[in-house]
Amino acid sequence: MALTHEQHEVIGKWERRWLALSGLVSLTFVIFIAYNLAVEGAHIAQTTGRTQPEILLNAGSFANPSVSKISNDNFQVTGVAQMYSFLPSEIVVPVETNVEFFLTSRDVIHGYQIERTPVNVELVPGEVAYLNYSFHETGDYRLTCNQYCGLGHQNMLGTITVLSKEDFAAREAAENAALAEKEAAAARGELVVDVSAARGEGIYANVCAACHQTNGQGLTGAFPPQVGHTPELYNAVGGRDYLVNVVLYGLQGQIDVSGQGYNGMMVAQGQLDDEEIAAVLNYVLSAWDNDALVEDFQAYSPEDVAAQRGQGLSGTDVLEQRQALEF
Ligand code: CUA
Repeated sequence: MALTHEQHEVIGKWERRWLALSGLVSLTFVIFIAYNLAVEGAHIAQTTGRTQPEILLNAGSFANPSVSKISNDNFQVTGVAQMYSFLPSEIVVPVETNVEFFLTSRDVIHGYQIERTPVNVELVPGEVAYLNYSFHETGDYRLTCNQYCGLGHQNMLGTITVLSKEDFAAREAAENAALAEKEAAAARGELVVDVSAARGEGIYANVCAACHQTNGQGLTGAFPPQVGHTPELYNAVGGRDYLVNVVLYGLQGQIDVSGQGYNGMMVAQGQLDDEEIAAVLNYVLSAWDNDALVEDFQAYSPEDVAAQRGQGLSGTDVLEQRQALEF
């Protein structure tokens, strides 16, 4: 059916209206962005101030991600996101206090979203995201990664606990007392070292389970199983030290376990202290009936871990060590 001249005119009129409308919408967005830049202090990402992720991670407080108290009204969080955890993963601050966040990523782009607050930033490797926020209500706030960052993304979680000023002061006092007690015990030569599998279980749940899974079965194609396989590595000549190095320095590159390839990157977990690494290895080698497979098990001590630190190995160096093992 052919359109009449009048019908063509009507169509043309509506097309011009829609074009004008979409132009107007775009113009409105430009005005909002310009207003934000000029008045609200927003800014467009700059290439200056970027650096190599490794340089950033070894510098200053990023080498030891933590929460520090600057004054009673001012706290500072230096946080690092990595596949698939936040460091620190548990943050405790008092209510109605200015909390400054300095955040970066170790590997790929992650999100840093604190639920029930406007805090939602993207963490880019080699860049520091800065923000400050004051929590107005006590309670637990969930910290989530909202950028898909790989197979363990959905397990990338943290907690921010906001306490009343009184509760926070009480917690601080208890912590200081515990620390003083520990120092006194050390001075008396009675420091209690806990590298038990029971302690390691909690560390495994927080640090390792996101990839290797709570049941130790790993994820096919990405993260190798701990069940059955870790004892094989332990039993190999040099395997006992190798396992410490995997935790300290990570592992990069494809590996094979019983004919199945795995190529998920193992992130270095050197932020764990010697006792924690010993405890988690003792757990992995005893859990899921692994203990039945380990020959001549000697529980790891903090000294075993300390002996492997400071070698500055890369994930590919560790891969080479693994390839040299016979199992
Ligand atoms: Cu990190 Cu998703």
